[in-house]
Amino acid sequence: QAIQSEIEAFVISDAAALEQFRIQFVGRKGRLAELFDGLKDVAAESRRDVGQALNGLKNLAEAKFAAAQEEFAGADQSIEIPADLTLSDPLIQGSLHPLTLVRSRILEIFNRMGFSVSDGPEIETDFYNFTALNFPENHPAREMQDTFFIEKGQGEIQDDVLLRTHTSNVQIRLMQHAKPPFRSIMPGRVFRNEAISARAHCLFHQVEGLYVDKEVSFKDLKDTLYHFAKEMFGKDTKVRFRPSYFPFTEPSAEMDITCLLCKGDGCNVCKQAGWVEIAGAGMVDPNVLENVGIDSKEYSGFAFGMGIERITMLKYQIKDLRLFTENDVRFLRQFN
Ligand code: PHE
Repeated sequence: QAIQSEIEAFVISDAAALEQFRIQFVGRKGRLAELFDGLKDVAAESRRDVGQALNGLKNLAEAKFAAAQEEFAGADQSIEIPADLTLSDPLIQGSLHPLTLVRSRILEIFNRMGFSVSDGPEIETDFYNFTALNFPENHPAREMQDTFFIEKGQGEIQDDVLLRTHTSNVQIRLMQHAKPPFRSIMPGRVFRNEAISARAHCLFHQVEGLYVDKEVSFKDLKDTLYHFAKEMFGKDTKVRFRPSYFPFTEPSAEMDITCLLCKGDGCNVCKQAGWVEIAGAGMVDPNVLENVGIDSKEYSGFAFGMGIERITMLKYQIKDLRLFTENDVRFLRQFN
């Protein structure tokens, strides 16, 4: 009886009082709990009645607690602090990834020279990645590219399926579905089964370029890439072309620029050579044009492919390729 009136009389007017009430009556070490514990010492014949009475008290206390809880719990947390309008904005703004910045810059430079942008698939068949590009069956050039092949199901595709090793597949897709002239650049991700190091990765980015029209010459190719290099790296950048080989271009070349990381003195990025290769290029092989139904006596063209990572490393003095994919904010924030 005494406890019942105590429970009823207890005034819960704030969160502190609510906590007091909980400790005294509801909690596991409260007075009701104590009485429940004493139940085992009550004479067997009256245990039932006493137990019922205690249950009644327990329900009463819990109901009162629950009602008050709705009103006061968390009250002290919800004290409103007026906003300090003089504080500067604490939000750190995100920034574009350096590879995104450089890709945009590359597209911008070529857009101004009249190149449109095209896109193609990253999962590709052998035909688009190799055969149509004049790679003969079983030719060692296929092995040079450390291809990731994809296991095939029972589906209708007869050809090998793979992750493209270069963006040159888009050349074929572009020419297959339209008529010349073509003047397009094709940015995208490419994949090669290489061990990850400061200089190599199994995933990287290229920008492909293709120009097909009547009377396109090697001089046009050189002029275009020279102009690109000077726009990208500055007027004083030195550029050189070296003869090279690709199955889909003839003649083929590679373009180097002076290593901007060591200013030509030798470092791990240019392998002490003072020059770094930034693009492969050449005149589109007549076989490639014929493979997509373009008359190689009427049309000629040039193509090139450049690595975005390499260009970004030179532009921003980045010595380790792995930084691009680690997403360390201390690195990324520098490109605000
Ligand atoms: N596809 C070549 C590569 O990945 C680059 C290239 C593109 C060369 C176009 C010539 C013409 O190395």
